[in-house]
Amino acid sequence: MNLSGFHKLSVAERLKVIKQLANLSDEESALLSESCALKIEVADRMIENVIGTMHLPFAIAANFKINGKDVLIPMALEEPSVVAGASKAAKLCLPEGFKAEADDSIMMGQVQLVNIKDAKKAKKKLQERKEEIIKKATDAYKGNPAYWGGIRDFEVELFKTKRGDMLSCNFFIDVKDVMGANTINTIMEAIAPELEKLSEGKARLRILSNLAVKRKARASAVWKKEVIGEEAIESFLDCYEFAVANIYRCATHNKGIMNGIDAVALACGQDWRAIEAGAHAYASLGGYHPLTRYEKTREGDLKGEIELPLAVGIYGGAINTSPTAKIALKILGAKNAKDLAMAMAAAGLANNFAALYALATTGIQAGHMKLHARNIAMLAGAKTPEEIDAVAAKIYEQKNFSSDFAKRVLEEIRKK
Ligand code: MEV
Repeated sequence: MNLSGFHKLSVAERLKVIKQLANLSDEESALLSESCALKIEVADRMIENVIGTMHLPFAIAANFKINGKDVLIPMALEEPSVVAGASKAAKLCLPEGFKAEADDSIMMGQVQLVNIKDAKKAKKKLQERKEEIIKKATDAYKGNPAYWGGIRDFEVELFKTKRGDMLSCNFFIDVKDVMGANTINTIMEAIAPELEKLSEGKARLRILSNLAVKRKARASAVWKKEVIGEEAIESFLDCYEFAVANIYRCATHNKGIMNGIDAVALACGQDWRAIEAGAHAYASLGGYHPLTRYEKTREGDLKGEIELPLAVGIYGGAINTSPTAKIALKILGAKNAKDLAMAMAAAGLANNFAALYALATTGIQAGHMKLHARNIAMLAGAKTPEEIDAVAAKIYEQKNFSSDFAKRVLEEIRKK
């Protein structure tokens, strides 16, 4: 799908292109262009104590090819350069694009048992009754059968804590195309009395784990030396190894990955706090490390890979109430949770590549300040796209980002 020059179009023209490509209805495209697609009455039912709604730019990262298919990546965020960075990274790895895969949607639910007379004996008993416990927990599911893939496994762990021995009864449940928090939490609460009876203990926490290690997504791409330059690959790898070696750098490295992942999550109505929690907990397994890996291929090109847990769904949660989330999923063409997870993994890798490539070559501020100049132009009072572009170009050329200077430039332009 050739989207070259997409960024140069007006907002209305871009929407027209996406409407056609994603087969959006007139109503859907009108909703996107409305300043408040989320009605206040709906917002008031989503959370408590509502006094208004808040808005974010909604954009499309272009040039993504995933497993041979062109994909439009919706992103919602306030930070300049993320959409441009992802689009550039995606363009630079064409024509192959990204390869991606995602695990089945297996989430873990935990029932914590405390005050157990003999925790070792109780653990053994619970393990011996595994089939029966799984059957009872399965019967507790009363939700939509379409969102239910069954309980895949059950295990018991014993912990010695300063408040005594505790057991964690871990259920591994396939939630198919939903994120799964409600499903898991309901089952954990329903099965807890049975576990109390068998263990002769007391159930405390009955909740999902956000470290969804059995629900990971992976993406990879190769950036050719002829395209990005041999020298850039060497500098890039130096930057990457710094993140491997140093946790302070690694946090920033992973933040750059989450720029892309969170932006897609937000656009698509996902629980981005759960995704963040899972990503950083996963990164800390075996010592906090980058969620991406890079190496030089035998041919001397740069290969990048990403792997992280992505508990995402295409039904339920905010998707039911957010009108734009449904449209975002349609634009993305996500037929199931795996499609969404793969696109998010590819976006994370793309944003990480874009950040390191910029840092390793020109530095991050050049592109960033170019975009930031537009914000300053608007703050100084520039109204039309022509005014904004002209003021931004002057600010950037003179490297003077003060609002006084921007106002003076604007006055001069208006005098002409
Ligand atoms: C800024 O939002 C993200 C970066 O700091 C990521 C990185 O340094 O790799 C540019």
